[in-house]
Amino acid sequence: MADQLPRRYTDLADWYYLLTAPEEYAEEAEFYWRAIADASDGAPRTLLELGSGGGANASHYKHNVAPTLTDLSPQMLALSQTINPECEHIQGDMRALRLNRTFDAVFVHDAICYMTTESDLRRAMQTAFEHCRPGGVALFAPDDTRENFADTTDHGGHDGEGRALRYLQWSSDPDPLDGTYLYEFVYVLHEDGQPTRTVYEGHDCGLFSRAHWLRLLKEVGFNPSALPFEHSEVPPGSLEVFVGVKPSGGRSSSKRCGASNRLAVRAELPRAAPTSACLWYFRFKFCKFLWRIEQRLRNSRWHNRRKNHHGDERRILRLIDVMMRQAVQT
Ligand SMILES: C[S@@+](CC[C@H](N)C(=O)[O-])C[C@H]1O[C@@H](n2cnc3c(N)ncnc32)[C@H](O)[C@@H]1O
Repeated sequence: MADQLPRRYTDLADWYYLLTAPEEYAEEAEFYWRAIADASDGAPRTLLELGSGGGANASHYKHNVAPTLTDLSPQMLALSQTINPECEHIQGDMRALRLNRTFDAVFVHDAICYMTTESDLRRAMQTAFEHCRPGGVALFAPDDTRENFADTTDHGGHDGEGRALRYLQWSSDPDPLDGTYLYEFVYVLHEDGQPTRTVYEGHDCGLFSRAHWLRLLKEVGFNPSALPFEHSEVPPGSLEVFVGVKPSGGRSSSKRCGASNRLAVRAELPRAAPTSACLWYFRFKFCKFLWRIEQRLRNSRWHNRRKNHHGDERRILRLIDVMMRQAVQT
């Protein structure tokens, strides 16, 4: 993760609810809560959220469970306190936080995207593991995985009391092999009686394959699975969340229950094969060839917005991504 938090979480934090309004999170918060409850061995009563930001999800799921909300940014915690005054708020880095107590569930929403290296992602998973009680559940909801990533553009914003914000957003993957993508924003900030100003910022976000997610979760000790994300505004099958159940006894326990778990797909861990220099050379050439095709497709005129993608084109891009990852990882 970059050492400095993006401005939207620091000096611009008091604009945050005009960027994304807490009311808009009801449906997804309900999905996350259901997924956690279905994977649990009993009704969860305590929950720790890592990177809880403005507390938008928490403002909905708190009616089911008592949340402890943690974030690296004091400004975002202060903002969350305005809508979740009854919740415990604690400042901490999800890679290092240790509260010396356990919870029935740990939830990490889009904040997990700020883990840009495998080492950071593993540390965040380890934090979740340390804070889960035996039999407890951790749920991770990254914005994207390597398989479903596509360049997108978006815009939006809201009006407030005497001020308004509008934004433009792009996400792109300048180097498909480096495990990150770039999230760029332009904010237009309008305040009564003040000159309107614009701010640009780019966020580096982590992009990991499904197999990578499942392998790391297993390595830290969870029984991992992937679950399709369901939301009325998201095409079915286009996004996944990751669930880790902490074994209640030995590390290898696989006790699972609930409808979500029946849907869940088990981890398949890639095996390393011995490779010769020649094989590596051809693999490198093959990757380069796939990368060229991908760049052509992405730069073509009809590949502007994710919602306009033709189904076949998306499937080809996804296949190329998966083939490239496999060629590199094997
Ligand atoms: C998009 S916001 C989260 C919003 C939240 N999902 C909600 O429901 O309102 C992302 C948050 O991640 C936090 N963050 C980034 N890196 C972090 C880290 N290493 N540890 C804890 N929080 C972090 C940022 O401060 C920011 O508040």
